[in-house]
Amino acid sequence: MPVPQISVRFDASDLQVLQDPYPHYRRSRMHDGLMRMGPGIWGVTRARDVAALLDADTLSSYLPQQHLAVSHTNARVAAFLRNIVLFQDPPSHGALRRMLAPVTGAAALRPVIEVLPTLFSEVAGDLDLLGEIDLMKQIATPLAGLSLAELLQLEIKDPMTLDHFANELSRVFGPAPTRDDLTAGAHAIAALEEVVERSLSASAVLRQICERAETEGIKASVMRDNLVFLLFAGFETTASMIGNTVGWILADEARQRDLRSGAVSVQNTVATALRDDPPIQGVVRVLTQETSVAGSALRAGRVLVLFVASANRDGDALFSFGSGRHKCPGADLAQAEIGAVVEWIKQAPDWMKAAGPATRNPDSRIRGYATLPVHFDVDHGT
Ligand code: HEM
Repeated sequence: MPVPQISVRFDASDLQVLQDPYPHYRRSRMHDGLMRMGPGIWGVTRARDVAALLDADTLSSYLPQQHLAVSHTNARVAAFLRNIVLFQDPPSHGALRRMLAPVTGAAALRPVIEVLPTLFSEVAGDLDLLGEIDLMKQIATPLAGLSLAELLQLEIKDPMTLDHFANELSRVFGPAPTRDDLTAGAHAIAALEEVVERSLSASAVLRQICERAETEGIKASVMRDNLVFLLFAGFETTASMIGNTVGWILADEARQRDLRSGAVSVQNTVATALRDDPPIQGVVRVLTQETSVAGSALRAGRVLVLFVASANRDGDALFSFGSGRHKCPGADLAQAEIGAVVEWIKQAPDWMKAAGPATRNPDSRIRGYATLPVHFDVDHGT
């Protein structure tokens, strides 16, 4: 079987890629479906390969030794990465999913989804809708924070601080974190641990998770790291996607017109934006044996980044929440949060418009905006 020779190169930290990674994926899909990302790290870009690999038995979610070796320069980060549900295979993966079910199961998400309109009006109620607002700071981040606080029954006093730590923590999820990334990550883990610690006694669902951890034989330190991970996974992704959805609507006037007229439903708008510009662009897996990937033989130990954001644009399937055993358990809540913001834009008496240039967030491994200035304007220019 051929070994890949001249695949497209991809550097996620490149500023051009940060602005618009999609032409790179497209080029790779048209070439051989693989991108070279670093020594032993390959990006997979075609839908049929991503679909087949997302839950293949020849892939593992345990991080490779070389990644953990880098992380060992920071023992706290290495332990965290080893403990969290995202980087586990069965049977420990199943035990951690069962432990988290009191906050990730459908029965836990439903009541939060039901109160979302109230949570949204708490966030947007006081805003001067004719003045300029930063959608990230004034809508997306507070709504994601309030929703998570409702789900976990905890108090999040300042969502912007949570956002700062979530950004820092995201840096350890890149395929090749630097020493600075690890230092930032360790700092964030310590800060988020404090939030978990403060909340454990007050929150009935978190106490339920503690009990489940005991039943499943999961150590308290592992349980805590998974709660820290949840504070990040349930928050930063959703806040970013709210912004990406609004940015996506504003990028083409027809999208807002179709939404406001009812030609396209809120649900479809959310689904299309999620397909076009998802916050998690790729998920990491490791080959446990030599495997044919996009027609090339890749050796055991190679790291694959399965680019769900590329696969979304290569057919009809939606990959943004993953698939298989690691499929996102918070998808319904996330879509409801994004839906509340889209409903607001649909119902507003005036059109939403960009009030200045939006900036992408260069500090996070999650694709999102740092700032997204918007305002409502009676004159929509049509
Ligand atoms: C738009 C928002 C969101 C997106 C795009 C998203 C996307 C994803 C993706 C792609 C995965 C799979 C990763 C993999 O296969 O390696 C995942 C896993 C996960 N997500 Fe989400 N997510 C979102 C919101 C949420 C929310 C709101 C929660 C919690 C309430 C959450 C909790 C989790 C957890 C715990 C995992 C790990 C599951 C496992 O490893 O078994 N996510 N998410």
